[in-house]
Amino acid sequence: MNILAIESSCDETAAAVVKDGRDVLSSIVASQVEEHRIYGGVVPEIASRRHAEAISIVTSDALKEANCTLDDIDAIAVTAAPGLIGALLVGVNFAKGLSMSTGKPLIPVHHLRGHIAANYLAHKDLKPPFLCLVVSCGHSHIVKVNDYTNFTVFGRTRDDAAGECFDKAARAMGMPYPGGIALDKLAEEGDPRAYTFPRPHVEGSPYDFSFSGLKTAVLNLLHNAEQKGEELNKADVCASFRARVVDILCENTLAVAKEQNINTIVLAGGVSANKELRRQMEARCKQQEFNLFVPPLCYCGDNAAMIGSQAYYEYQAGHTTGPELNAAATMPITEDF
Ligand code: KG4
Ligand code: ZN
Repeated sequence: MNILAIESSCDETAAAVVKDGRDVLSSIVASQVEEHRIYGGVVPEIASRRHAEAISIVTSDALKEANCTLDDIDAIAVTAAPGLIGALLVGVNFAKGLSMSTGKPLIPVHHLRGHIAANYLAHKDLKPPFLCLVVSCGHSHIVKVNDYTNFTVFGRTRDDAAGECFDKAARAMGMPYPGGIALDKLAEEGDPRAYTFPRPHVEGSPYDFSFSGLKTAVLNLLHNAEQKGEELNKADVCASFRARVVDILCENTLAVAKEQNINTIVLAGGVSANKELRRQMEARCKQQEFNLFVPPLCYCGDNAAMIGSQAYYEYQAGHTTGPELNAAATMPITEDF
């Protein structure tokens, strides 16, 4: 089954053709990052306009690269939640139009379910159940994937997401948006033991995350040094900060895995590209005898191939929709459209 998938939830306009949920025939991503960089973050209105301009060409490029026409496509999939509402609506309306004009089924996909499915593209033997740490700019979830379309959330952030926390710390150090990538790079040159950052706990919810205190701690460190005229070693700050965030992400995930008796752990989302997170998770999983799967770097950030993968399983579960489909800025991963 060939699925044409569309993704426009944030600042990448993407289209892909995916066969049977596992084989990527094409994947095109048009990034708007350069344009948002001058504002230090995504400007929703600009994002929507750029999606509207790019979506037709990105989709026809995806068909071309897959050597397909619409006749070879069996269903249309689209990210319908969560994300920037104006950005999502561009993809949803375009996909609805394609579905109506071709008579092909329309499959709505939850963006975070898509991030998890990025792993199916690279690891053909990976099948639920497993435990997944989903870390992006907007979300930090520890989710049990019971089945392809059935999820249980064991932990989530109470305030900032991990990616947001990396981006804000990086911005305070003068790094360009999205700072998480630049912070990760500079951290490679620093000493992770140079500075000590707090380890926040959420009272009564041991698997939940709270990153806002950690973000404040790094901002305070930078401001205090500035006021005293002290020169901080930025690489050391990045390395120490990254080590603390990664330590929290790994600890909570492995604690859930142990308690729930789950022996396979999977990473997903933009932050799963983080070098230290991949290294630490690998070392800890090896030592504690868990199987670990990480997405290939090309499918960590937003893309449509991951949406096409998840859509295949949503279709099998009967999750198709009609022209009544609407986009939603927020939606729990556990809910179906
Ligand atoms: O999944 P994603 O592309 O977008 C959302 O769905 O939110 O994630 C983007 C986030 C940004 O916060 C970005 O800074 C972060 O992922 N990110 C990283 C790295 N690469 C991307 N954070 C830390 N280290 C990285 N190497
Ligand atoms: Zn994403």
